[in-house]
Amino acid sequence: MTADSYDDIPYDSTPFAETHPDHLCVLGRLFGLDAPEPATARILELGCATGGNIIPLAFHLPGARITGIELSAGQVAMAQKLIGTLGLSNIEVRQGDIMELGAELGKFDYIIAHGVYSWVPDVVREKMLALCRELLSDNGIAYISYNTLPGWRMRGMLRDMLLYHARDARTPRARLDKAYELFDLMDGATKGLDALSAKYLRSEIAAVRKAHPSYIYHEYMEEINQPFLFSQFAADAGKHGLQYLCDVELGTAFPSTLGQAAEQALEFAGDVLELEQYMDFVRNRNFRRSLLCRSDRTITRDLALEQFENFAFSALLTPPKKVELSRPREQKFTSADNHDYDVGHPLTKAALLHLAAVHPDAVPFAELVGAAQQIAAANGGRQYAEQTDHLFGELFSLFAHQAIRISPRPQHFDKEICERPRLHALAQAQAALNLGHLATVRHTTVQLDAFAAHLARLLDGARTVEELVQEMVAAMEREEVVVEGDGKKADVKKMAATVEANVRRLLGVFVRQGLLT
Ligand SMILES: C[S@@+](CC[C@H](N)C(=O)[O-])C[C@H]1O[C@@H](n2cnc3c(N)ncnc32)[C@H](O)[C@@H]1O
Repeated sequence: MTADSYDDIPYDSTPFAETHPDHLCVLGRLFGLDAPEPATARILELGCATGGNIIPLAFHLPGARITGIELSAGQVAMAQKLIGTLGLSNIEVRQGDIMELGAELGKFDYIIAHGVYSWVPDVVREKMLALCRELLSDNGIAYISYNTLPGWRMRGMLRDMLLYHARDARTPRARLDKAYELFDLMDGATKGLDALSAKYLRSEIAAVRKAHPSYIYHEYMEEINQPFLFSQFAADAGKHGLQYLCDVELGTAFPSTLGQAAEQALEFAGDVLELEQYMDFVRNRNFRRSLLCRSDRTITRDLALEQFENFAFSALLTPPKKVELSRPREQKFTSADNHDYDVGHPLTKAALLHLAAVHPDAVPFAELVGAAQQIAAANGGRQYAEQTDHLFGELFSLFAHQAIRISPRPQHFDKEICERPRLHALAQAQAALNLGHLATVRHTTVQLDAFAAHLARLLDGARTVEELVQEMVAAMEREEVVVEGDGKKADVKKMAATVEANVRRLLGVFVRQGLLT
C-alpha cells in the first residue's frame, strides 16, 4: 500500500454502520464494559481516506470530538474540503503516518481502523496495536478489520492472477484496466469448464465486478495484503495489552448459527478464542471486524441482556404482504439488501412494523414494547401482548444478525416532507460532489441512480414538489438525466407521467433515511 496509489485511486470512502461508536458501545455494554457515551466521545479513525466514515459521524454527533489520520495528502485534502463546506468544528482530518503517532494525540473512547491492518507493513500493524493500547481510554473500544485465514486463501487465487497479469503495467490506472481485462479473459477461458476451481473463479469474478474499482485495486492489486488466522490476531493483540471483546457481527459468536452438527462438533473448544478459530474454519471466513478493549478490563461472556431496557431500537425491514398478528407463525421480513429474517411472535412482528413506520427513529425499549403491544392487540393478538420474553429473545437474535440496530440513546426525526423539500447540509454537499451515494443517519448509504442523483442536487429548499417534477422532466428532455430501462433509453414523453410518482417516492426514501430537514 502506498500513499501514491491512494492519491491516484482514492478509496470510495463511505459510512460503515458496524464501525459506528453507538454499535461498539452497545456491544461493549452487553459484554459488561462501561463503554463511554458516543454522543460526547472522543473518536479516532486511523487511515480514514476521504473521511466518508467519520465526517457523517461528526455531522450527526455534534458533541463528539473526532480525529482522522490519513497518509495520502490527496484524500486528506478532499476530507478537509468537505469539512470546510459543512463548517464542522468537532472534526479534524490530519495528514500523517500512523508510525509517527503517540500520546500527544490524547485518549480516545473509540478507535476505528477499517481496511488498514492487513494492508500495511508489519511494523505499522504492530504500531496500530500499540497505539490502541496507548490511546484507548479506560473503557474504550478499538475496531480493527482484517482478512482472515484460511478463507482468504481462496480469494487470494484471483489476487495472484491479477498481480501476474498486471505485472508490466506501470500506473495504478493501467493496472486497474488490466484487472478488467483479466476478468474477461478468465470468464472466457473457463467458460464451460465444470471443475470446482473454474466455477469458483467465475463466481468470484462476478462478485468482484460489482465492487467499486477502488476496492478492486486496493484489495487485489496492492503490494501488501496479509491475511491472519484469528488466533494469531488475538495473540498479537494480547501482547499489546488488549483483549478480544467480540465481533461486530455478534451472531457469528454463536456456533448454533452454523447448525446443530457444527455446534456439537465444536463442543470440545476450550475457550472463546479457540471456538472462534474453529468457527472460522467451518465458515471458511475470509474477513473479520474485531473489537478489542484493554486487557485489564473485566468483561463477561454471559451477555448483560438486562441492558436492553436502557437501549433504543431502529429497523427498516419490509414485512410480508399480510402480517399475521393473531397467532405465532414464522414469516419473512426483508432487509434493504434482500436478506430474509424469520420472525415468529406477533409481538416482534408488531415491533418491526412500528420501527418501520417511525424509521429512522431509535425507539426506547419500553416505548417499543408499548407500541408493539398496542399493534398486536388491535390485530387479533391480544393474548400474546404480555409475552415480552419472546419479543426480547427475537429482538436479540435480530440484533445479532444485523437486522435491527441498537443505539445507547433514543433519537427522533421529523417525518414531514415540507412544501419546499431540502436535504440536510451533509446530504446536499454529498449530492453536489456526485459521489453516487448519500450517508444516512443510520450510518449506511443510499445509492443514487442518475435520476435520484439529479433530484438530490435540486433539494436545496428552493423548489416545491411541483417545480421539482417540472425540472426533472426538463432535465430528462435535455438528456441531462438518462434513465435506462431494459437496456433501452426511456421515452421521456411516456415517462413524464411517472416522474411525479418517482419524485414523491424518492422524497419518501430520503425522509425515511433522515436526509431531509
Ligand atoms: C483500504 S483504505 C481504507 C480507508 C477507510 N478506512 C475505509 O475503510 O473506507 C486504507 C487507508 O489507510 C491509509 N494508510 C495506509 N497506511 C497508512 C499509514 N501508515 N498512516 C496513515 N494512513 C495510512 C491509506 O492511505 C488508505 O487511505
